[in-house]
Amino acid sequence: MSKNPKPLVAGNWKMNGLKSSLKQIVKIAGKIDSKKKKPGCEVMICPPATLLTAARDKAQGSSLKLGAQDCHADEAGAHTGDLSAEMLANAGATAIIVGHSERRANHGESSAVVKAKAQAAYRAGLVAIICIGETAEQRKANRTLSIVTMQLKGSVPAEATPANTVIAYEPVWAIGTGLTPTPEDVAVVHAHIRKRLTVQMGEKEAQGVRILYGGSVKPDNAAELMAVENVNGALVGGASLKAQEFIGITATYKS
Ligand code: PGA
Repeated sequence: MSKNPKPLVAGNWKMNGLKSSLKQIVKIAGKIDSKKKKPGCEVMICPPATLLTAARDKAQGSSLKLGAQDCHADEAGAHTGDLSAEMLANAGATAIIVGHSERRANHGESSAVVKAKAQAAYRAGLVAIICIGETAEQRKANRTLSIVTMQLKGSVPAEATPANTVIAYEPVWAIGTGLTPTPEDVAVVHAHIRKRLTVQMGEKEAQGVRILYGGSVKPDNAAELMAVENVNGALVGGASLKAQEFIGITATYKS
């Protein structure tokens, strides 16, 4: 299992979580720093923005990182209901997921919009976790690699570095469905992403960028998926809502 670059396992809570969910944060923070259970990866939870500050306070002193799920591209202004990257940083985020397929599909976010949001994350000193991935129809039509290429070209800013950018490959048809691609399929797409990043950023930089796999990652399939070459961690939805399941996934990476 590749340990270079240091893997990242990030949980995306989506529109789930009330104050009562903070106990999951406490459990995760407690486990990942215990001597026996310390995983060999960075661990992050992206709760809804309403819980960011409270989650940050609960995680204080632990190595658990917190992230946000989306941001507006502007720093401030007349955008009712939106949150800027600066606000999310101020609330406790160290990273922002941008371009999740649910935002691309439900909010019509183009790759140009996603790129602007990634740049907003950089402006606020945060890491952008840029999501890409094909739909079932695109996969059937054999367009997976060309879609991924297009999304990388359109969504990854020229200023991207291994320190400020993480790529999450999430086949849309695998999200929340219990379906996953085979490890062989994941290997092909992740190798392709690495190759495309090399074209866009140069070899040295591209080698350092973490490429996460996302879509129905569970404790029982994590080891197989995380063992694939060029997979440097996971973006986890449903299984990140329960501390025990999420910890089961982070434990795939032994320290
Ligand atoms: P899932 O979601 O793990 O529930 O499939 C993954 C994601 O959307 O990031």
